[in-house]
Amino acid sequence: MPKGTKGRKKSGNAGVKAMRKKLIQAARNAQKNSYSPYSRYPVGAAVLAESGRIYTGCNVENASFGLAICAERVAIFNAVSHGEKKLRAVCVAAKSARPCGACRQVIIEFALKDAEIICVDWQPLEKKEKVSYTRTAKLLPKPFNPSEAGL
Ligand code: THU
Repeated sequence: MPKGTKGRKKSGNAGVKAMRKKLIQAARNAQKNSYSPYSRYPVGAAVLAESGRIYTGCNVENASFGLAICAERVAIFNAVSHGEKKLRAVCVAAKSARPCGACRQVIIEFALKDAEIICVDWQPLEKKEKVSYTRTAKLLPKPFNPSEAGL
């Protein structure tokens, strides 16, 4: 291994780890703003845009239940409204956090192929957290494909 390579690789990994930590913390913070009086299921999300900026969102419910919107979509639409259409990572924080089918389709629309999807599964009873990682390509088999549909 050439001199100095090892050190650079280490600091690269440290950078990835630090960014993951930042994203996870942003999703946890966003979860605190959840408006979920009907389900009592607070969710927070944070996305890392190509620019390096982080955008957050939480689920927002309504007395007309069907109007609820998931945290992931709020975070993604927040990024898009700021001119960011390419996402490097998506993080969701909740008890048993998993993006729903609708959010998976929206993630696929904006996330880079190899974007990291981070699920922060908070177990309130055990007071512990399990973090799992996957990639955009693994989110949804046979998603709706705009180019196949001629859109
Ligand atoms: N929810 C999310 O915010 N993200 C998901 O991926 C799944 C569900 C919200 C919607 C609703 O406010 C509550 O969780 C219960 O379904």
